[in-house]
Amino acid sequence: MTTLFKNIKELIQVREKSISFLSGKEMNVLPTIKNAFLVVKDGLIADFGEMKDCPNTTFSEVIDATGKMILPSWCDSHTHIVYAGNREGEFVDRINGLSYEEIANNGGGILNSAKKLQATSEEELYQQSKARLEEVIQLGTGAIEIKSGYGLTKEAELKMLRVIKRLKENYTIPIRATFLGAHAVPASYKGNKEGYLQMLIDEVLPIISNENLADFIDIFCETGYFSVADTELILKAGNKHGLIPKIHVNQFTAIGGVQAGVKYNALSVDHLEEMRDEDIDALQNTATMPVALPSCSYFLSIPYTPARKMIDAGLPLALATDYNPGSTPSGNMNFVVSTACIKMKMTPEEAINAATINGAYAMGLENEVGSITRGKKANIILTKPINSYGFIPYSFGTNQIEKVFLKGIEI
Ligand code: NIG
Ligand code: FE
Repeated sequence: MTTLFKNIKELIQVREKSISFLSGKEMNVLPTIKNAFLVVKDGLIADFGEMKDCPNTTFSEVIDATGKMILPSWCDSHTHIVYAGNREGEFVDRINGLSYEEIANNGGGILNSAKKLQATSEEELYQQSKARLEEVIQLGTGAIEIKSGYGLTKEAELKMLRVIKRLKENYTIPIRATFLGAHAVPASYKGNKEGYLQMLIDEVLPIISNENLADFIDIFCETGYFSVADTELILKAGNKHGLIPKIHVNQFTAIGGVQAGVKYNALSVDHLEEMRDEDIDALQNTATMPVALPSCSYFLSIPYTPARKMIDAGLPLALATDYNPGSTPSGNMNFVVSTACIKMKMTPEEAINAATINGAYAMGLENEVGSITRGKKANIILTKPINSYGFIPYSFGTNQIEKVFLKGIEI
């Protein structure tokens, strides 16, 4: 099966050689080919170039992209799309003046979602989650990470991870699974955080490892949730089972979680709304990708990750949604890219790099997706007719996507 996309107004994020990620000034360079062609063969990118060099052999399918652009699908490296029910009641509570912290202390927050999820069957959880996966695929996401963390019991955490595994098996989109048992201390372990962590380590991790249920390990390293010492304990335990760290840090307070992440070779450290100079320094010249989640800042009205300061200091940055029922009930990467430009003062080039190749790296998928490179999966977005790629973030709230393709197949 071969597909030719011809007359592409601009082919975006073209990388002749596979790269792992972009940092600092490199992030402001987005290579493109104007008036381009793209050939997809058996689901992979086989060739691309200027229209004058377009091969005139026969193809199974030819798509004329006159006036339209093609870019690699968004790589959303941080989501919690497996959850049960919603929390729109808390949304109204926050409008009426309660903080995220006050809501959590009143029995809302993560524990509220855990109660709902524990009472939901695996089949029903799968159905609710698959609807969200299909929704974000239509919004241009072509690789995704999904976390557990709304179970908070052995059974419910495994239920979440099995749902993710089933999604992996049933969908073409690359999915990475993360074990986030240490998301909050459940009510049944109130006052016994150590006991809860030990249960995760002794009872849940071995099953995850045996059944191959996760790629990564995560923890909510935050005042009132888990400490840096808890983080080190969990990352070490995950490491024994081959799980790579990707952690929640510096969302509300900076307590040294970034340093712990770097120490344990985290693939990414995510949130980073509160960044001290020493946190930026700790990330210099490491393989740990900082990940910003601007939709979370938007929804909770908390500070945005200081992207400008970080990129100007030479760091890389990835962008992801954080799609979850509490802090970010939205999985729209187009909105993330817009908001990064509007509120974090990232250029369209920086934001698109952050949401494609750097996001791919934050999932360990940089050799499969994230750029228009020969041999990578043809997970691509075909835009509506637009004048420039800057129009995508500029026209915030409007969907500029005409079609999405996973492994070259229109979805
Ligand atoms: O990434 N910060 C921790 N976890 C989620 C939100 C949890 C919730 O409120 O349900 C996040 O923002
Ligand atoms: Fe999150």
